Amino acid sequence: MSFADVAAQAGADPEAFWLEAAKGLDWAKFPTTPHDGGSDTWFPDGELNTCYNAVDRHVAAGRGDATALIYESPITGRAATYSFAELQDHVARTAGMIAARGVAKGDRVIIYMPMVPEAVFAMLACARLGAVHSVVFGGFAAPELAKRIDDCQPSLVLSASCGFEPGRTIAYKPLLDHALELAAHKPAGGAIIFQREELAADLMAGRDLDWASAYEAAQPVDCVNVASADPLYILYTSGTTGTPKGVVRDNGGHATVLHWSMSTIYGMETGETYWAASDIGWVVGHSYIVYGPLLKGCATLLFEGKPIGTPDAGIFWNLIGRHQVKVLFTAPTAIRAIRRADPDGAFIDQASLSSLTALFLAGERADPDTLLWIAGKLDRPVIDHWWQTELGWPAIATCFGLGETEIRVGSAGHAVPGYRFNVKNDVGDDVPAGTVGNLLIEQPLPPGAFRSLWNNPERFQAGFVDFPGHYTTGDAGMIDADGFIHIMGRTDDIINVAGHRLSTGQMEEVVANHPKVVECAVVGAADELKGEMPVGFAVTRPGTEDLDAVLQELKVSIRSDIGPIASPRTIYFVDGLPKTRSGKILRNLLRDILNGADIVVPQTIEDASVISVIEQVVKG
Ligand code: COA
Ligand code: AMP
Repeated sequence: MSFADVAAQAGADPEAFWLEAAKGLDWAKFPTTPHDGGSDTWFPDGELNTCYNAVDRHVAAGRGDATALIYESPITGRAATYSFAELQDHVARTAGMIAARGVAKGDRVIIYMPMVPEAVFAMLACARLGAVHSVVFGGFAAPELAKRIDDCQPSLVLSASCGFEPGRTIAYKPLLDHALELAAHKPAGGAIIFQREELAADLMAGRDLDWASAYEAAQPVDCVNVASADPLYILYTSGTTGTPKGVVRDNGGHATVLHWSMSTIYGMETGETYWAASDIGWVVGHSYIVYGPLLKGCATLLFEGKPIGTPDAGIFWNLIGRHQVKVLFTAPTAIRAIRRADPDGAFIDQASLSSLTALFLAGERADPDTLLWIAGKLDRPVIDHWWQTELGWPAIATCFGLGETEIRVGSAGHAVPGYRFNVKNDVGDDVPAGTVGNLLIEQPLPPGAFRSLWNNPERFQAGFVDFPGHYTTGDAGMIDADGFIHIMGRTDDIINVAGHRLSTGQMEEVVANHPKVVECAVVGAADELKGEMPVGFAVTRPGTEDLDAVLQELKVSIRSDIGPIASPRTIYFVDGLPKTRSGKILRNLLRDILNGADIVVPQTIEDASVISVIEQVVKG
């Protein structure tokens, strides 16, 4: 069926459409009701196990020998391949290992691990038991991990002794120890630590277990069926405050749409190899390193490395050739980094890319220059698509698998079947085609999209109150006359640094905590490589002299309180911050000054503060 036919079907009768899509899974109890409008729940009476669908059912169907997981770690020199039968063994035994520490259906498990196969086994093992995993990205510092431990109250933490960044080893265990000290909640099952050869961690007697020994002693366990609406995972993402939002993902809706999206959006068939070059700590990693490809019976590539420097800018193309990757998904930053290191695309020319049919980009704005460069080099469709942690799967895309081929540079594509977008102005009126406004999605959201935030129903509801009947995405956008949707950027204080979603409000909390800082603002400045970079402005107490020392202290605090991924490009010390008469800091004006845009200074603000900001930025 064509994209237009599928979109028309999904629009005319979404309930029948998604019930049909749900048939792509094996259910313990197939839902009789597609959607309950009262509670806004998809497949309310369905029962299934997500791990069974991602792993066991392929073995049961005679595909046990087919490749499921390919691990490539150029940063350590390791590589491994697991068939579905081998994956099933590992996952069943890992589930036994965590069950032996008391984890059962509904319990939470924090996973703070680098990109190793054991982390994937751990996620699937939780799903197998009906337990709820919460993966925390390794680039987050101990206080961020502690916040997540306190919010989701895990029974157990799974971690590793270390991870690797180019040129350095990141000791995870001291970060975990510090987080467990900071957190009020103490996981009853303690921690299980995967020791890596390169750096062994000290284990705390009575709390920590060695992964290898615990795994050795464990018995495999079977899948536990759960209600479709039961939580599969909690994934924390940045909101506008310093407290992260725990997005809750259900089992049945999520598995249905991910399975469906593999063929319709990405054009993948069972047995083919898919590669999302992201990290399991982000939603892209959850959906398209782990669950999507495995639900479809595809092989998935788990990559512990960087697009450049591990060992060079040819690693993506080299792995595509070696593993016959059909679709690559990455963030535009990765392509910008590759282009900077290999401007003529020499590595691309040398590679054998016959298996590759398309490159998908998401996570941040795909600037047309980068998109056109890589499309020219690869001579294949390069498809920008848009989504968010809250939604869990693409909402705007070119549905390659449904034969959609027209790509409009500057647009992320059309609404994916099942999503209905509107653009409204701030007072809630629809705007004409081609006009920028608040990008909204009509309720009910399709299956897979979030239905709650962990521990925080009020914050969840807040996403639906400004524009009744709609979910406010937080992005500004425009729908053109042909239905192509163009994303213009966030309307709130969230920024995107190298495809990582971060809150400037959270950074401001850290800067404002410095004893010498009176007030501050952090905004995202345009960055050629990372898309955006945080830049701070701070007003210090009168008489503060050694500003260099304050700057260094602030940089250290941001790294140690939030993580190295939030490192600001710089912090300017200014005499005052431009504000409205009501005292609101004019962050847009700060951003415009940084980005060299033509600035319009509202008459109501004090000129001296603007002049001070401009002077500092010009001085560098
Ligand atoms: N654990 C610990 N530290 C981490 C980390 C992790 N998992 N990931 C990143 N960091 C650290 C880095 O080492 C770096 O530290 P430094 O300031 O001491 O050098 C800092 O956080 C910033 O990292 P990053 O933003 O990745 O920048 P980089 O300069 O190291 O690398 C790129 C630049 C473009 C190569 C890199 O950002 C990249 O691969 N981007 C692709 C983005 C992506 O896949 N996004 C996922 C969403 S789809
Ligand atoms: P995350 O929840 O980390 O996936 O971040 C979601 C946010 O990233 C969105 O709200 C957008 O602001 C931004 N984003 C994701 N994909 C795109 C894209 N293709 N183009 C522009 N912005 C994007």
